[in-house]
Amino acid sequence: MPSDSSRFYFRQLLAGREFAQGDPVAGQMRNFAYLIGDREAKKCLVVDPAWDVPGLFDVARADGMEIVGALATHYHPDHIGGELFGFTVPGLASVQEAKGVKVHCNRNEAAGIRQVTGLSESDLETHDGGDYVEVGAVRVQLLHTPGHTPGSQCFLVDGRLVAGDTLFVEGCGRVDLPGGDAEEMYRTLTQRLATLPADTILFPGHDYGPVPSRTLGEERAESYYLQPRSIEDWMRMMG
Ligand SMILES: [Fe+2]
Repeated sequence: MPSDSSRFYFRQLLAGREFAQGDPVAGQMRNFAYLIGDREAKKCLVVDPAWDVPGLFDVARADGMEIVGALATHYHPDHIGGELFGFTVPGLASVQEAKGVKVHCNRNEAAGIRQVTGLSESDLETHDGGDYVEVGAVRVQLLHTPGHTPGSQCFLVDGRLVAGDTLFVEGCGRVDLPGGDAEEMYRTLTQRLATLPADTILFPGHDYGPVPSRTLGEERAESYYLQPRSIEDWMRMMG
């Protein structure tokens, strides 16, 4: 993290609004992509580029920033591109084609990402939870948060948690899709993310809540998902 916070660059971008304008499917899916970087170095990372890759590059360019790497929260096509409901969603493969940057993913997600996007092993940089990815003076910590998928990861940077489909405002990702695991999600929400400070700001992978972001403190107070009474209660609720 830069000590000078004015250097820190962070954009939350809603598909169908800030990029992929006019794409009705993207608009319906309400995916967020993010740009995280260092204003002084003029370099940033893109989180979950999908739907409209040139549009995301345009946003970065308009801010005077160059995209130098990609972070993938998990392997679902609405986040990284691939086949979805009979459509081909553009994503990481287009980023690779345009820029040849590394895709940072969790070790447990690499096979799924290759399968969904067609990327090769050398396109990916695989990580364990606790690793850092640096862009200029900004350090992004990778947290391994399985549950939605085996290699789901969240990104912790400058007091913000970019959570993909692990945690939404007033919700969490589905655990009934292939690779989903309700018990792992319980551990992620009640243990792995429980130690983060209350003033950490949650930035989810979809705009599903009443607000696009809010603190974990508010989330813990308002949402059932961060305070299930017991694993039995949780498993009953998750079906
Ligand atoms: Fe997902």
